[in-house]
Amino acid sequence: MTGKEREEAKKRGTDDLFDPLIECIIHRRSIRSFQPTPVADEVVMKILEAGRWAPSGGNSQPWEFIVVKRRDTLEKIGRIFVEDREQRIREKVNFPGSAKSYIAKVPAMIVVVADPRWKQAYPGTDFTPALRRMYARNRELIFVQSVAAAVENMFLAASSLGLGMAWLTGFAEDRMGRKLRRLLKIPEPVRLMAGLPIGYPKVPGQTRSRRPLEHLVHHETYDPDRLKTEEFFLDFCENERNRIAYSAGVVKNGGRGSRF
Ligand SMILES: Cc1cc2nc3c(=O)[nH]c(=O)nc-3n(C[C@H](O)[C@H](O)[C@H](O)COP(=O)(O)O)c2cc1C
Repeated sequence: MTGKEREEAKKRGTDDLFDPLIECIIHRRSIRSFQPTPVADEVVMKILEAGRWAPSGGNSQPWEFIVVKRRDTLEKIGRIFVEDREQRIREKVNFPGSAKSYIAKVPAMIVVVADPRWKQAYPGTDFTPALRRMYARNRELIFVQSVAAAVENMFLAASSLGLGMAWLTGFAEDRMGRKLRRLLKIPEPVRLMAGLPIGYPKVPGQTRSRRPLEHLVHHETYDPDRLKTEEFFLDFCENERNRIAYSAGVVKNGGRGSRF
């Protein structure tokens, strides 16, 4: 931070927050193996508090959280995921995901749900059917992005408290969703958005690779020469995804860069 930036930050009362924040952001990892140590209710509340302060479209705060700690419920959730993964493999799903046996043993899980009627709070009109459809598509984006912001806040809070978390989106799939909805007694029209297993990590998270900034940033307008080819995505799905999503990945520049 330069002297001028520090002065500005001091005026806003946010000086010296960037360094611990970026450390927390960089060191947060998806954790899929936990110690049996219980997670105290106060600690879970701190994580939920971080979720509560996320930004959201129209400040609608569409999220609600179900805290699951009962072992029998967690085991049932685990079974649903394990069986579904086996089914995905039989159905040749291109990306069946990581093994899910850890879910049954996790000390706690935050299930994130959201009522889609909050979308009424986002821009929309019945002026013409075309406009209604246009705004409806964007309402869905606003809704999902709002919930994702709350999840990321909780992910970072968990990491700052020495806890590990995973972000399971299978909760939002129709097939698993039906079973999970019954188990967790979620009424219509409330939507299951994500499940966040939390606990103290068994092994420290492995540093994942990230593309360097210069591969991501365009200045003023999109640089068409850098539009990725179809082959790039094929190569990512066939050769890179599993390695960088679930294994050690390429560790360079303190985990901030990779060969991409
Ligand atoms: C929207 C979203 C969906 C994800 N879905 C899953 C999931 O269903 N199962 C899972 O194990 N991890 C899931 N992840 C975690 C990613 O695999 C993980 O963030 C990525 O591989 C980078 O690793 P890191 O979180 O350790 O940095 C998801 C992450 C996001 C942001």
